[in-house]
Amino acid sequence: MTELGPVTWPPAPITTERLVLREPEARDRAAFIALLTSPEVHTYLGGPQPRAGLEREVPEIARRRPGLFVIEHDASMIGMVKLDRIDAEGQGHARPETGQAELGYLFLPQAWGHGFGAEACAAALDWFADAFPGEPVVLRTQTANKRSMRLAAKLGFTEVELFEAYGAEQWLGVWPSVAPG
Ligand SMILES: CC(C)(COP(=O)(O)OP(=O)(O)OC[C@H]1O[C@@H](n2cnc3c(N)ncnc32)[C@H](O)[C@@H]1OP(=O)(O)O)[C@@H](O)C(=O)NCCC(=O)NCCS
Repeated sequence: MTELGPVTWPPAPITTERLVLREPEARDRAAFIALLTSPEVHTYLGGPQPRAGLEREVPEIARRRPGLFVIEHDASMIGMVKLDRIDAEGQGHARPETGQAELGYLFLPQAWGHGFGAEACAAALDWFADAFPGEPVVLRTQTANKRSMRLAAKLGFTEVELFEAYGAEQWLGVWPSVAPG
């Protein structure tokens, strides 16, 4: 993944009804490790990473970069939302073009089922739309990842195509939706 490019960063923390979107801080380290080692979180993302290596490797403050938001609820990190640009390596088998902005999201399982993913991603997309007016965002997710598919639809992503990668059917969506023809 490539960084988003010229943009004022960090913005002031973004607050929504229930959440804060902000840069990573040292106090988030345990939550980052929990996210990366959770088998549930990585069911459709190639499996979790081993904890031992991460305990050594995750820096005190996770790498700060434009478009990477920690999501905080009740003063604790519950997940992350990121906007990056697809690079040649990350393109994989998928169709989106190198350089397109892509949305990704990971929430701790205990934070699922409350609408936090939708609330946080909508705020991150608003931020993106202000920073890069008129630019679309793509999203790739396994079709078997029903929660992620529901979230993509709720956010207003519309299907571009289905494709096979990593031994599974993948969905490519775009936001805002592009009118046919
Ligand atoms: C994808 C993921 C973020 C979806 O989380 P989620 O909590 O299901 O998504 P939402 O934020 O849209 O919440 C929707 C759920 O909250 C419920 N909800 C409860 N209170 C709510 C409220 N106040 N407002 C909105 N929804 C609410 C909805 O009914 C819905 O539940 P349901 O799916 O059981 O019907 C989460 O499953 C995840 O992090 N998965 C692992 C990472 C992953 O696969 N990422 C995709 C890679 S691109």
